[in-house]
Amino acid sequence: MLHSKSIITVGIALVVLLASMVVLAANDNPASPKPPSQNPAKQQPSVQSKSVANTSSDSVDETKLRSGPGDPVAGKSKAELCFGCHGEDGNSIEPLIPKLAGQYGIYIAKQVRNYQASIRTHQIMGAVAASVSDADLADISAYFASQPMMKGARPSSNQIGKNLFEKDDLSRMMVRCNNCHGATGKGQNPRNSVFPVIGGQHKEYLLRQLLSFRKGDRNNSPGGVMNITVERLSDAELEALADYVSGL
Ligand code: HEC
Ligand code: HEC
Repeated sequence: MLHSKSIITVGIALVVLLASMVVLAANDNPASPKPPSQNPAKQQPSVQSKSVANTSSDSVDETKLRSGPGDPVAGKSKAELCFGCHGEDGNSIEPLIPKLAGQYGIYIAKQVRNYQASIRTHQIMGAVAASVSDADLADISAYFASQPMMKGARPSSNQIGKNLFEKDDLSRMMVRCNNCHGATGKGQNPRNSVFPVIGGQHKEYLLRQLLSFRKGDRNNSPGGVMNITVERLSDAELEALADYVSGL
């Protein structure tokens, strides 16, 4: 008993630590917003030359931050390889192929490299990932990130899903989703690419990821935070969450 209790305590501490990264990143010197990049010279092209239309609420600066270090204009032609499955504007039609529209550029690149390294496994994406260079991947990611952000076709009134999304249940180590993924599941802020956009994603894809995190088949989230978060949720609860989140 004591043993499992201390595991729970460590688990909760980890989740709280990750959640606090949100706050830290949000307070990250607003006077000089710099996207993380190893290569400052690459940041030099002016905002104008890299600007691509995004949602009306996103300023050009926010879009640029969200896009990461790549060049969205150069990325468009390089992304043709992805269009057949993910859609030209990043809104895939097939429910098990994720939308990439408005997703954080750095998050997109991280997932592709995770597939390549088999840290996240999928046969097709593993093969696709191996064929893309780092520089091309940065541009492709920036292109999808700069597209108008994914949105659900219709809002879901699923109360079970809404409750889990908005309320902690620490007895089950479940930190409310919006603590990390943002009030409407669109992530935290343009500088914080750790927490992906999930609001408006396909329901079927969301459910598959949640089941896969619970089972441990997908375990590429930092510190296993997603595995811990959904570990004790039932099938019906995961289904309710996927339903609610896809409508955001
Ligand atoms: C033949 C179809 C196909 C092609 C081509 C393809 N993808 Fe995918 N992609 C998928 C499928 C299916 C998944 C979901 C895999 C899973 O369940 O983990 C996926 C998942 C992803 C994810 C994970 C998204 C997330 O929200 O975590 C990213 C990022 C991604 N693809 C990027 C790309 C990029 C970039 C390209 C082009 C270089 C590309 N894909 C080409 C089918 C494809
Ligand atoms: C403590 C922070 C935290 C909490 C709480 C949290 N998440 Fe996450 N979530 C993450 C992080 C970080 C990732 C990115 C994992 C990666 O890098 O692959 C993620 C990834 C995901 C993904 C995969 C997205 C994709 O495109 O493949 C889904 C789906 C998801 N979370 C849903 C949820 C739901 C539903 C809840 C509430 C039950 C939740 N998350 C609570 C941090 C959190």
